[in-house]
Amino acid sequence: MNRPQPRTRHHLPKRTVSIIGTGSYVPEKILTNAELEKLVDTSDEWIVTRTGIRERRIAAEGETTSDMAAKAAIAALENSGVGAEEIDLILVATVTPDMFFPSTACFVQTKIGAKKAACFDVSAACSGFLYALEVAQQFITSHTYNTILVIGADKLSSIVDWKDRNTCVLFGDGAGAAVLRHRGGGHGVVATHMGSNGDLAEILHIPGGGCKSPLTAENLGQSLNTIQMNGKETYKQAVTAMLGAANSVLEQSGLGFDDLACIIPHQANLRIIEAIASRMNLPMDRFMVNLDRFGNTSAAAVAIALDEAHRTGRMQVGDYVLLVVFGGGLTWASSIIHW
Ligand code: ACO
Repeated sequence: MNRPQPRTRHHLPKRTVSIIGTGSYVPEKILTNAELEKLVDTSDEWIVTRTGIRERRIAAEGETTSDMAAKAAIAALENSGVGAEEIDLILVATVTPDMFFPSTACFVQTKIGAKKAACFDVSAACSGFLYALEVAQQFITSHTYNTILVIGADKLSSIVDWKDRNTCVLFGDGAGAAVLRHRGGGHGVVATHMGSNGDLAEILHIPGGGCKSPLTAENLGQSLNTIQMNGKETYKQAVTAMLGAANSVLEQSGLGFDDLACIIPHQANLRIIEAIASRMNLPMDRFMVNLDRFGNTSAAAVAIALDEAHRTGRMQVGDYVLLVVFGGGLTWASSIIHW
């Protein structure tokens, strides 16, 4: 007996996934190292030598993560020529959601008018944008969705202890976005890698505010609702994890470091990027760096850097581009994109 062959999406060939447009947004207010000298016992010289950061952007009073994310999304939609009504799914990577729920992605949906989109947030700290990119890729390769808006957005100024010089000099606010679709022609994501190590959660975390330590006057008094970080250990883990993630996607794709036209790393600390460049034996001009102007904007950092690299012509059609990130969790991820 001839069995019927249903034409479901499971029978379709896998599709490649391309970034067809990018956008970003940073708040107007600039906070310089000189201004931080007035808040905590620090100096421009210490911050620049140890981190490479010169200034960062701080959200205006009342400006939320979804406000910034929506502005980045609108820029990415304009850049891609895609209308908000065409978006099937909105993913927002963030650790500073407007509220515990609804998701920040739902707030973005209503702000940009993406009526048919499904929406949810992705939590992977600074690695969130690449985690969300990988989730989006799975939906597109499987023919579940055609057009996905991926956003990395964070308002770290809302979770920083402004009395703690160990952390408050490092972070800033902003958002970056990308529109993903199958484009064909050999373009798109070539290889991806994600990894995590929950054993090291405590070297970079916010202990209070969740169900484990709900916000009480006592917890607030101990600043448990702000970022706590073991800087030295984070630094070491970041270098090792980002190199491992980069090697993994190179191995999968059969490419070498020399084949990469542009590397867009997480923007946490210039010394971390220099250490990676030196171990890859690549010149620093191959790396996109903008942390001097924006500091570490968590999930937004690599997305803002991607948009800047795209708009300034850092990558040309046919180039191989490596994105590589690291964050709390611990988490790390990498992607090679054939631009
Ligand atoms: N200004 C002046 N002095 C400072 C400051 C500051 N802002 N911050 C710390 N110090 C002091 C410390 O108190 C310490 O003083 P002590 O020796 O008297 O105790 C001294 O400077 C040295 O401190 P270290 O922590 O040893 O400095 P280090 O060289 O490791 O640099 C830094 C610190 C910049 C935080 C570095 O460890 C780093 O970049 N780590 C990675 C951080 C990171 O990337 N975090 C985020 C990644 S993941 C994510 O994005 C969420």
